[in-house]
Amino acid sequence: MAIYFAPLEGITTYIYRNAFHHVYGGADKYFTPFITSATMSHREQMDTLPEHNSEITVVPQILTNRVDEFLDIAKRLHDLGYETVNLNLGCPSGTVVSKKRGSGFLSVPDDLHRFLDEIFDGCECNISIKTRIGLSSLDEWEAILKVYQQIPMEELIIHPRLQKEFYKGTPHLEAFALAKEMLPNTRLCYNGDIYSVASYENVMEQVAPADVMLGRGLIAKPELLGAISGASAEYATFDVARFAKFHDEIYAAYCDEMSGPSPTLFKMKELWTYWIHNFPGEEKTLKRLLKTKKLAEYEGMVGELLHSLDD
Ligand SMILES: Cc1cc2nc3c(=O)[nH]c(=O)nc-3n(C[C@H](O)[C@H](O)[C@H](O)COP(=O)(O)O)c2cc1C
Repeated sequence: MAIYFAPLEGITTYIYRNAFHHVYGGADKYFTPFITSATMSHREQMDTLPEHNSEITVVPQILTNRVDEFLDIAKRLHDLGYETVNLNLGCPSGTVVSKKRGSGFLSVPDDLHRFLDEIFDGCECNISIKTRIGLSSLDEWEAILKVYQQIPMEELIIHPRLQKEFYKGTPHLEAFALAKEMLPNTRLCYNGDIYSVASYENVMEQVAPADVMLGRGLIAKPELLGAISGASAEYATFDVARFAKFHDEIYAAYCDEMSGPSPTLFKMKELWTYWIHNFPGEEKTLKRLLKTKKLAEYEGMVGELLHSLDD
């Protein structure tokens, strides 16, 4: 069973991925947040540069519903040395869905089928897919799976929620079971709401054998992957010194890369909304941290948070 690190736009940048690998390690693959055009934004270029990804296995993700665009982006990625790309059929955001991209593409299975036939015909890379299970009704899933039955994808990562559910409610494990039944020869990966070893074991009882992709749970608890994969106890519990090393590597890299304190702090603040769960009773410090505009103040508050765990 393999464990993957999910793509989270704005969070799992190359800086984050490398720091995670250096300090916690253990993910079999990391997926980049989605890329939407072959011209590639600065962020997308930085994220996919081979020298930024040389120590880890990275699969770049593409979000589009246009064959030419997909093939142009995939060619550019292939030229950079990537052998597999991932297609995003899961993004639930309204602006994406209204253009029939991301999970919006699932609402037109015939168009999706044509698109998939053409990209699989024309692409030099292997293609994997990350999908939701429909837009508004569980009844949509079977027709989508019938399309997937005819596509030679490298693997299918399933976040078993509908678009309309965004991240609410409970993942539909029965939809994952149907995928196993209808796609017996496709490599399947489960993704969704794994926040602890207990929730991992509970899900795996129902979906195994399958690979697993961790997202928000792994951002909040970076040691979760080690705990799940049964690494030594040393790597399975929250260790403040290890976390400080992780934080400092990310922070130093953003200070170097970003154009000033505001964008650097913006990046770090988003991470702290996840990390704060490891610092019980420190919500007030987080509030202050989220307001600060100065790096020196930020550093002082991080020091306070780290020391709050001293015995
Ligand atoms: C802030 C945020 C950004 C995300 N960005 C992406 C993305 O770029 N591509 C993608 O396929 N999924 C994206 N996702 C979805 C996650 O990869 C994952 O499927 C989802 O969070 C469910 O898994 P989890 O419960 O383990 O977090 C994003 C989710 C969040 C919360």
